[in-house]
Amino acid sequence: FSLASLNTFGIAARARRYLRVTAAPQLAAALADPGLAALPRLVLGGGSNLLFTRDFDGLVLHMALAGREIVGEENGCTLVRAAAGENWHDFVQWTLAQGLGGLENLSLIPGTVGAAPIQNIGAYGAEIKDLFHALTVFDTASGQTRTLRAADCRFGYRDSVFKHAEGAGLIVLDVTFALPTAWQPNLKYAELANELAGIAAPSARQVADAVIAIRRRKLPDPAVIGNAGSFFKNPVVPGAQCEHLLQAFPNLVHHRQPDGSEKLAAGWLIDQCGWKGRNMGAAGVYPKQALVLVNNGGASGEDVVRLARAIQADVLARYGVQLEPEPVFV
Ligand code: EPU
Repeated sequence: FSLASLNTFGIAARARRYLRVTAAPQLAAALADPGLAALPRLVLGGGSNLLFTRDFDGLVLHMALAGREIVGEENGCTLVRAAAGENWHDFVQWTLAQGLGGLENLSLIPGTVGAAPIQNIGAYGAEIKDLFHALTVFDTASGQTRTLRAADCRFGYRDSVFKHAEGAGLIVLDVTFALPTAWQPNLKYAELANELAGIAAPSARQVADAVIAIRRRKLPDPAVIGNAGSFFKNPVVPGAQCEHLLQAFPNLVHHRQPDGSEKLAAGWLIDQCGWKGRNMGAAGVYPKQALVLVNNGGASGEDVVRLARAIQADVLARYGVQLEPEPVFV
């Protein structure tokens, strides 16, 4: 089964078996089938945060469950739930159309609702953990569904329990968000505040439009150029290491974290190493944002990995900082 149209990098990988899941009972049925249950599994949403490095010799579960609804009120918030297969951006726009603010900073992030908690998607000063209420999983170990709250999900920067061994057998079926009735714009990200500088009290819709405008300027549309968003996480280093680096590189872009550590802009590090706009075979570094690796057409997963390794080696040699990939390698 070809996965080429199911990953935003546009890598031409294949899977041994494929199941499009539109209802939760299909999961229990698949696991009750001895031929399928024995295979390695890959849960796929929008395919926007993974890199196929080879064919997948197992079962792809393509989560396509649909539905979104307002489910209630609690503690000054409106609770909205969406099924795992809903497109993330469409869901965010739908909440805004209902008059509910809160998710606007996360507009235009590719992928599905079910994938959003896996890496705790974030942009422009917001992360889904800030608006998260609960989610439902199908537990492949027990065959049961259950509800997880924020603490169970162990959200971190581009991280959650689902990226670790303890959460590996859990498949997200739906996610519920708590959107504040007394909405306030979140403009702590300077670039977003600048974009809205002419508007005194922007609405959630206006914030969303500003985010969409910024993203369209800087990030390639996966429908046009294959990519998986930021290819590396922004590395977090001890405060002392950052100070040391600043002596040699006064323009280093860094953001202090609450615990005193410093988050460095990986895009800046890569850019400074001269990689912006460079290609290695069919894989390349996006000319407008060095943190994004792209498939210029016909790249294999190995081409992208080769480019990523070369970038990591240069950044390590120049700055002593190890970059960690953001997408999941399959
Ligand atoms: N920079 C450069 N050269 C570049 C790219 C960036 O000098 O080629 C500098 C910028 O000038 C800026 C700093 O690096 O001073 C940070 O750049 P930017 O604001 O574009 O954000 P980012 O750190 O590169 C992160 C997220 C994005 C998210 C944006 C906005 C990660 C790994 N990436 O990127 O998330 O949209 O902030 O919040 O945290 C994603 O995860 O796929 C993603 C796109």
